[in-house]
Amino acid sequence: MSFIEINNIWQEYGAHVVLERLNLRVNAGEFCSMVGASGCGKSTFLRLLLGQEAPSRGTILLDGKPLQAEPDRSRGVVFQRYSVFPHLSVLDNVTIGLELPNARLLGRLFGASKREARDRAVWMLQKVGLGQALEKYPAQLSGGMQQRLAIAQAFIMQPRVLLLDEPFGALDPGIRKDMHALLLQLWGETRMTVFMVTHDLSEGFNLGTRLLVFDKVRIDPHEPNAYGARITYDIPLNEARLAEMTNPQPDNVYALRS
Ligand SMILES: Nc1ncnc2c1ncn2[C@@H]1O[C@H](COP(=O)(O)OP(=O)(O)O)[C@@H](O)[C@H]1O
Ligand SMILES: [Mg+2]
Repeated sequence: MSFIEINNIWQEYGAHVVLERLNLRVNAGEFCSMVGASGCGKSTFLRLLLGQEAPSRGTILLDGKPLQAEPDRSRGVVFQRYSVFPHLSVLDNVTIGLELPNARLLGRLFGASKREARDRAVWMLQKVGLGQALEKYPAQLSGGMQQRLAIAQAFIMQPRVLLLDEPFGALDPGIRKDMHALLLQLWGETRMTVFMVTHDLSEGFNLGTRLLVFDKVRIDPHEPNAYGARITYDIPLNEARLAEMTNPQPDNVYALRS
């Protein structure tokens, strides 16, 4: 049994078929990069994995059980455009996830563990280059900084399944490289299962253990919405090289995870 099993799913909105007969098996710890033409259903697929929407047909199993209808903490997400809490400071935006009652790792935080959570949030914010902006509010940040805040927010939760929808597209090349290194470090340490949509083919080839290509196999030029996309290529990537790139550094703050 695979960690995630996607059996023959379709997603239709009225007469518009977005995904059709999509099948996929993913083991825990795999890192799937996903590419495909704009509008072919990649974000839709992530929403299905998140449990935000149910497929029109077919089933999605997580650990052999049907996916919960509601998103829960086991699945974290970074959307293409930042989504942070405008009324919370940068630091609070990142610690709040850890303070929620059902946070997977730490539960409710008091005293020492609250300080540890804060330390870890500061560590994560330094990693995304926001160490100097802890007390700022999102409106005071540039778009790229808000996006990095959203990345820190998702990464700190260490979800079992991390869903990334073009998370780095809006970032400058240098910062994007830093974010790649951070993602690989966290993935190397936690072996969370990652699904990352990207429009940058080289990013897809460089980061994943597997590259999934979404495309339509049938096209009716008179009715462009009559047929949906599915995964047309499933390319294994060089995991040994990726393991070299991750090479996690010992880090006391981060080690509080266990
Ligand atoms: N809730 C919805 N209702 C109707 N159409 C939708 C809905 N969500 C997505 N679509 C359509 O599904 C298609 C795929 O969208 P999307 O998954 O965002 O593509 P991608 O992320 O690959 O660019 C688009 O044509 C979009 O307009
Ligand atoms: Mg999209």
